Amino acid sequence: MKGIVLAGGSGTRLYPITEGVSKQVLQVYDKPMVYYPISTLMLAGIKDIAIITTPEDQNQFKRVLGDGSKFGVNFNYIVQPSPDGLAQAFILGKDFIGDDECAMVLGDNIFYGGDFTKILNNARENAEHGKATIFGYRVKDPQRFGIMELDDDNNVIGVEEKPEHPKSDYCITGLYFYPKGVADMASKVVPSKRGELEITSLNDMYLRNGDLKAELLNRGFKWFDTGTTDSLLAANNFVQFEQNELDTIIACLEQIGYQNGWLDKDALLARADLLRKNNYGAYLKRIAEEEKTFKIRK
Ligand code: DAU
Repeated sequence: MKGIVLAGGSGTRLYPITEGVSKQVLQVYDKPMVYYPISTLMLAGIKDIAIITTPEDQNQFKRVLGDGSKFGVNFNYIVQPSPDGLAQAFILGKDFIGDDECAMVLGDNIFYGGDFTKILNNARENAEHGKATIFGYRVKDPQRFGIMELDDDNNVIGVEEKPEHPKSDYCITGLYFYPKGVADMASKVVPSKRGELEITSLNDMYLRNGDLKAELLNRGFKWFDTGTTDSLLAANNFVQFEQNELDTIIACLEQIGYQNGWLDKDALLARADLLRKNNYGAYLKRIAEEEKTFKIRK
């Protein structure tokens, strides 16, 4: 299975912070924002990842992430010339995806909570069986998001983009799993009234074919769309609190790579040495010295 991190867009909602720097490389406590969505794909067992950026910002991402070898993964870089919609990612990524299933996560979305690996595994299995999966999270302001309508058994029966009168308060978060053939499906999406290839239109196609499933992220799970100054600050504060409380590091890509067997102990120690001046480096050293079965404490 392949993975895409969509990290384009102009970031105007965060101006002047993002006038000279891409939103997705901004700080979220002790690491760049883009580490968090990458961790989501890696937790799903995805090693081949495309990073889609604006043409101007691609070099920033290359400097921050490199070719992925420091985390035990492979990064490919793809340019989105203009922000023409989330579904365009699959058209731009057609060659990269090839004949594989594909997951996509938005570069400003942070997911954190119990059972996440299990939830991701379900979605992966769905994709291998020809079904797409979207992930629902209860929000107070459903008009701001894509929304899923559910029946009594939590089957998804409708999807709508930023509806005036939402049929539920389950937002469709920025994480999507698709079976083989998603690039061809995406090429059938017609632009919406605001001129974008909407991800919700793509999801609606799967729904109409009877091929769309939903996983619900329940109480205790934390999801952030860090696209505004307040939500960015809230995410920083959350990660600081959670990490210090649990003496752990969230979205530690080296740790996930190591636990997935993609990064060996020497590579982990070399990375720990490079980052030795702070807690992140000390944490990597601790993991390398503990048994490989070291688990993030929940
Ligand atoms: O965050 C979840 C929401 O994301 C979903 O509930 C919505 O269904 C989905 O449409 C999307 O809504 P947003 O209003 O947040 O979309 P936005 O245009 O802000 O784009 C989301 C991120 O993707 C943002 O960081 C910019 C980036 N982006 C956006 C577009 C349209 C791209 O990289 N390329 C694009 O073409």
